[in-house]
Order: sequence, then C-alpha cells, then structure tokens
Amino acid sequence: MGITRSFFIALSNNRLLNSGAKKWGFQLGAAKVVAGTDIPNMMASVQELNDNGISATIDRLGEFVTSRKEAQQAATEIIETLQTISTAGTDAHLSVKLTQIGLDIDQQFCFENIHRIVKEADEHNIFVNLDMENYDRLQPTLDILHALRKEFDGVGTVIQAYLYRSEKDLEALKDVRLRLVKGAYQEHEEVAMQSIEDIDANFLKLIKLRLDQPAFTSIATHDHHIIDAAIAYADEQGIPSDRFEFQMLYGFRTDLLKKLSADYQVTSYVPFGEDWYGYFMRRLAERPQNLQLVIKGAVSK
Ligand code: FDA
Repeated sequence: MGITRSFFIALSNNRLLNSGAKKWGFQLGAAKVVAGTDIPNMMASVQELNDNGISATIDRLGEFVTSRKEAQQAATEIIETLQTISTAGTDAHLSVKLTQIGLDIDQQFCFENIHRIVKEADEHNIFVNLDMENYDRLQPTLDILHALRKEFDGVGTVIQAYLYRSEKDLEALKDVRLRLVKGAYQEHEEVAMQSIEDIDANFLKLIKLRLDQPAFTSIATHDHHIIDAAIAYADEQGIPSDRFEFQMLYGFRTDLLKKLSADYQVTSYVPFGEDWYGYFMRRLAERPQNLQLVIKGAVSK
C-alpha cells in the first residue's frame, strides 16, 4: 500500500475532518463526483444520466453513525429517496451501507432498519444493493443478506476480488444478483491480496465464474483492461448481454460508460448528501490521479 493511499484512507476515517467538511461546504472538487447534497440535485443528475441511456444506483451518503436515532433517521431518508425515484419513474435502484443504518450499534437493530427499507423497496419493485464495507463487516453483511432473502428477492450485495474468501462466497451466492469489484479498503494480508496483479487476475477469474452462472452480475470497474477482457469472454462464451452490466462511479470515465451503453446495460453509482467527505477521500485513496478533480474543482470555483 502506497503512502498516498494510506494518507487518504486515514483522512477518510478522520471524524473531525468529516464533520468539519460539512461546515466548509461542498468544495474541493467533490461536486464532480457527488451528485449534490440534496434530493432535487441528485434527481437532476440522475435524470441526465437516464437521458443518456444510463441507469443509476443511488447512495444517500452517511458516515460515523453512532446513535440509534441517527441510524433510524438515515433509514427514513433512504426510504424517502426510494419513494422519490419511484414516484418520478426514474431508472434507478439503491445502494446502502449497513454501517449507516446501525450495523456497528447492534446487528438486530440494523436488520430491522434494512428490513424496513427493503420491504418498502419491494413494494415499489426497486432493487436494493448492500454495499460491502471493510472485512470486519463482511460476515455480518452476508448474514443480514441471507435473512432478508428469506422474504425478498430484490436484494443483493458486493463481492470484493481482493479477498481470498471471495471465490467461495461467490459460489454460495450464485442465485443472488451481485456486484463484483476489486475492493476499496485497506485489508490485512492474511485475508486480502496486496498486489495489483493478483487482485486483477482474481477479479477476472471471478467475473468469468460469475458470467457462467445465470444470475445477474454488475461488473463495477473503471479499468478498461478488465472491461475489454469481460466483453471478450462474454462474446466467446455466447453469454447474453442482458445477464450482466457495467457500473462506474458518478463522474468517473463518463465517456467510456456512454460508449458502453450502445451495446450493454450500464449503471452509474450516484452518491449524494451532506456526508460527502469520507466518500471523496476514499476515491482519492484509490487513485491519486483523482487529485486532478481537486485541482480543477479549486480552480473552476
Ligand atoms: P483501478 O483504480 O484499479 O484502475 C485500474 C486501471 O484502470 C488504471 O491503472 C487505469 O488504467 C484505468 N483507470 C481507472 N480509473 C480511471 C479513470 N478515472 N480515468 C482513466 N483511466 C482509469 N468497493 C468496495 O470495497 N465495496 C463496494 O461496495 C464498492 N462498490 C463500488 C461500486 C462501483 C460502481 C464501483 C465502480 C466501484 C465500487 N467499489 C467498491 C470500489 C472498487 O472496489 C475499487 O476500489 C475502485 O473501483 C477502483 O478500482 P477500478 O477497478 O475502478 O480500477
């Protein structure tokens, strides 16, 4: 792990800066990768994506939730978001981080909150993705997913290619709609691959395994080498293009996403809300070149 990556991950975990950022306002280029701080701004961005043939998965941002009240409030806001997209007939679904709705407070309490969200989403026929956070949260997230799936089909999660256990998890989740990613957190070498080459090779292996299975797969990456290899494999194996899609983060490689939309389903991951700071810092940690967003943002203000 490079110094720059550790630096931005440390910044993303800094509570003081997180709360300070809200006060400083929507600055430092974050507006290029976060679709505003409220529902009207987010809806305008998503409408523009839809007009370009791009679907959306919407993440109402929230970090460092420590009280039950904050977690319940977050769940209520997520429900408000899903009701808004349903009423507007928007082509979108939801992405939810379980820590935002109480995973670190109490697992049963978190389950009650996500149950409330998924039940409402089910009534509106909207899919809910449980984003995957760091390794400590993986098993609790999978346990909650399995409990939800006893009642609802429209809920899935994320598999992170850097984890050694992911191939087994993929097999166990073969009937579930999944998003495959490289993995965004700093994990211990006992559980996660550390080299880019190993992670990329495993990512491609998991993509191929998954494309051979019937359930829907979202290949979430900005890496054109991986995208090209996935397309080549799908073509070679005659895998129908309605069985998978490509996902990218809002504001990243939009031209490539638009290009892919001519032949494939594509979805943009659209974060919004006042709690944008931690999300923004994690994106800088992933790719220091994203600092250009900061520089351009600062200059263009
Ligand atoms: P990576 O950053 O490794 O880049 C590989 C190569 O691709 C680069 O060397 C460059 O050639 C090219 N490239 C990448 N970005 C570029 C750019 N902006 N412009 C030009 N070229 C570029 N993680 C997680 O742990 N849990 C989760 O739930 C999610 N969810 C999620 C949803 C979506 C839609 C996405 C896209 C990603 C996630 N992630 C995630 C994050 C994921 O794990 C990973 O950290 C990032 O996507 C970065 O890895 P990439 O695969 O995009 O390529």
